[in-house]
Amino acid sequence: MPESVLITGGAGFIGRHLSAELLRRGYHVRVLDSLIEQVHGNGKGGHTGGAEALPPEVEFQAGDVRDGDAVARALRGIDRVVHLAAEVGVGQSMYAVERYVSVNDCGTAVLFQQLIEAPVKRVVVASSMSIYGEGLYRTADGGTAEEVVRRLRRPGEPWDPLDAQGQPMRPIPTPETKRPALASVYALTKYMQERLTLTLAPAYGMEGVALRLWNAYGPGQALSNPYTGVLAIFAARLLNGQPPMIFEDGEQRRDFVHVEDVAQAFALALEHPAAAGQVYNVGSGEDRTVREVAQLLARAMGREAIEPEVTGQARLGDIRHCIADIGKIRRELGYAPRRDFAEGLAELAAWVAEQQAIDRVAEARRELEARGLVA
Ligand code: UD1
Repeated sequence: MPESVLITGGAGFIGRHLSAELLRRGYHVRVLDSLIEQVHGNGKGGHTGGAEALPPEVEFQAGDVRDGDAVARALRGIDRVVHLAAEVGVGQSMYAVERYVSVNDCGTAVLFQQLIEAPVKRVVVASSMSIYGEGLYRTADGGTAEEVVRRLRRPGEPWDPLDAQGQPMRPIPTPETKRPALASVYALTKYMQERLTLTLAPAYGMEGVALRLWNAYGPGQALSNPYTGVLAIFAARLLNGQPPMIFEDGEQRRDFVHVEDVAQAFALALEHPAAAGQVYNVGSGEDRTVREVAQLLARAMGREAIEPEVTGQARLGDIRHCIADIGKIRRELGYAPRRDFAEGLAELAAWVAEQQAIDRVAEARRELEARGLVA
């Protein structure tokens, strides 16, 4: 009999790609998902749609991960769990505090409450690079700075953090050993999810694994969710003939990893004997600025005539730079990112061209501004 995997939040962007990957690997896949409107929509254009967008072989159960009965039902006959159900917006987490803590942390607590009664072999949780806060930096004299905290910036000051001598520092790849620095409600909730998994799984004879994801992108992103990842937001703007809105000066760095590579990382984390009890960074191993990805995406979509708008304002809770050191997952699990960024963008552009997107970015920005969360 094939093993059965439950993916919580599996009808989302990453869950769908992971479902397809796990089916290819011969698993039976069950998805528990509450299909929240911000992501899945209400039948209007641009949302990811609901369960019908999952591969047909997937067994779908509608339900909230905070509902113990729904989780108990979903766990029946399950061998392994991937826990993806979560709220995902860093900016939004700074005002929708109760909702983020409830879904992300109470959700994980309810899941484990049920797992105590019905243990599985392994639980893999989606954590985030957000837990690092600022990544590692190289100081002007060649040292390493681990405890960089972003200060409120006065007009005219540089965006990049400075070392003790007032010299600008350069971001360097951040390994799993960097101490967490929890700079947003989102980061706090993700760290709690990670720790709950790594603390409770072994206490009940299960194996826990946490993956710290960088910025996942690819076809199937929620284009009409203004709190989704930056590439989807830019794509929705460009599709509607609007300029991408770039926060800060656009020189902030991230690692954009294709969703199929993320699915590969989850499959390895679910199967590989070495993964038990571990945390792993998941990225592409290449870093880019937000300004660069805005330009490359506009070109891929044939909209290079639309100049991005650089706002010169930062979102509260955002970090400046964090780039991934993926050495550990490469070495221990044999992870190898396969998707080239230029090809990935071309594929994203082709997919976006077939979609409709409701542009809610200005609305979302007003929400943040009204609460003093951009400065
Ligand atoms: C994202 C994910 C988070 C995930 C993390 C892992 C979302 C909503 N957030 O957070 O769930 O854990 O990656 O790396 O998917 N930006 C703009 N203009 C915009 C929107 C964003 O310039 O319209 C900038 C932001 O200021 C930031 C960068 O783009 O500097 C990335 O923002 P975002 O895509 O929200 O990602 P993260 O905060 O990195």
